[in-house]
Amino acid sequence: MQETFKLRKFEMGDLQKVMHINRICLPENYTDYFFIDLYRRFPETFIVAEHDGEIAGYIMCRIELGLSHFGFGGLIKKGHVVSIAVLPEYRRKGIGKALITRAIEGMKLYNAKQCFLEVRITNTPAINLYKKLGFQVTKTIHGYYADGEDAYVMSKKL
Ligand code: ACO
Ligand code: ZN
Repeated sequence: MQETFKLRKFEMGDLQKVMHINRICLPENYTDYFFIDLYRRFPETFIVAEHDGEIAGYIMCRIELGLSHFGFGGLIKKGHVVSIAVLPEYRRKGIGKALITRAIEGMKLYNAKQCFLEVRITNTPAINLYKKLGFQVTKTIHGYYADGEDAYVMSKKL
């Protein structure tokens, strides 16, 4: 591909392609209802990257009310990156970085003050990407994944 891709908000017609990318790229898969529900509630943070009419990757998020990941404070709004994936043939072209950056803009529209996600502690590509964007490890959750692997919670102030 040329280094040209377009970011846009998810549309219902993208559902099957996004679910396909999710199944190819990650062991954590979801029902169509799960995707549609996130889209309906948080359309500003469900973004796809398109190249020549083909979807190359997606990010979907949820806005949650919870405690700060950085010390004291009461309940705040946080943007939770539920799932991000880029098809193998489109990786290392900046699409993952662009998807998160755009989703963070959407989180700000919902008034989120922090952003966080869980990632497998062995997922070096993703961890490197998040670090590059200013996320830091704020917690380890033992046995978070269905196969028993631990997760890092990585967080960033917006
Ligand atoms: N090895 C080391 N560092 C990497 C790698 C890698 N394979 N891939 C990305 N990075 C780091 C690099 O610092 C890179 O910058 P550089 O290319 O200038 O060196 C930086 O991340 C930005 O990379 P992008 O090109 O923006 O990322 P990409 O479009 O390749 O997408 C992603 C990264 C989404 C993690 C992709 O590898 C993927 O889909 N993986 C499988 C699915 C997955 O693991 N998703 C995340 C699960 S956690 C969650 O969803 C919350
Ligand atoms: Zn999560």
